Amino acid sequence: MLNIALPKGRLADRVLERLALAGCGGASLIEGSRRLVVEDPEGNLRYFLVKPSDVAVYVLHGAADVGIVGRDILLETKPDVYELLDLKLGACRMVVAGPPGAGEGVRTRVATKYPNIARKHYADSGREIDLIALNGSIELAPLVGLSDVIVDVVETGGTLRDNGLIILEEIIPISARLIANIASAKFKAEGIDDIMKALSREGN
Ligand code: PRP
Repeated sequence: MLNIALPKGRLADRVLERLALAGCGGASLIEGSRRLVVEDPEGNLRYFLVKPSDVAVYVLHGAADVGIVGRDILLETKPDVYELLDLKLGACRMVVAGPPGAGEGVRTRVATKYPNIARKHYADSGREIDLIALNGSIELAPLVGLSDVIVDVVETGGTLRDNGLIILEEIIPISARLIANIASAKFKAEGIDDIMKALSREGN
């Protein structure tokens, strides 16, 4: 039995669709229900539905053998897991955004859900920041004077546009990745290889 951690939220639909196309049965049973664990009819795969930021935690500790998680979470938390495949799903960009001309002072106040990525981005160019860690609705921060800019993911750009903010700097492209627990990669190599092949076939 292979345990697979899947992200709730905006990636979920696309991930479930990709698994179904790849012939990984059962994952869609999780849709529209409140069940957190679902098995495929053949009893080979078991799916857990968890918060995106928790996928790598389940995989790191071996509660899940593999998981699907955004590259943003991997860059932020640097879990000790194998990154097997770029699923090219949920493509978006990590950026610095704010009102036009913002963040040009000596010291910039940066609001973000990604403190490590933000710190590194500014440290790489020797710029000083004050970090403000938030958990959501990041775009609000510069609108109400909590920060000068934000570091966040942008997908359609709709949230920035609707709030009068623009992209000031591009940091890195983001997409969903298949990750594996290090011990599972050894002891469940065959099962993991099968799912990797099935998912990569569908991605191309
Ligand atoms: C994410 C991100 C942006 C938005 C970008 O937030 O933090 O706010 O999506 O998407 P867009 O470019 O397509 O508008 P999410 O919806 O995950 O909610 P959050 O505010 O709780 O972080």
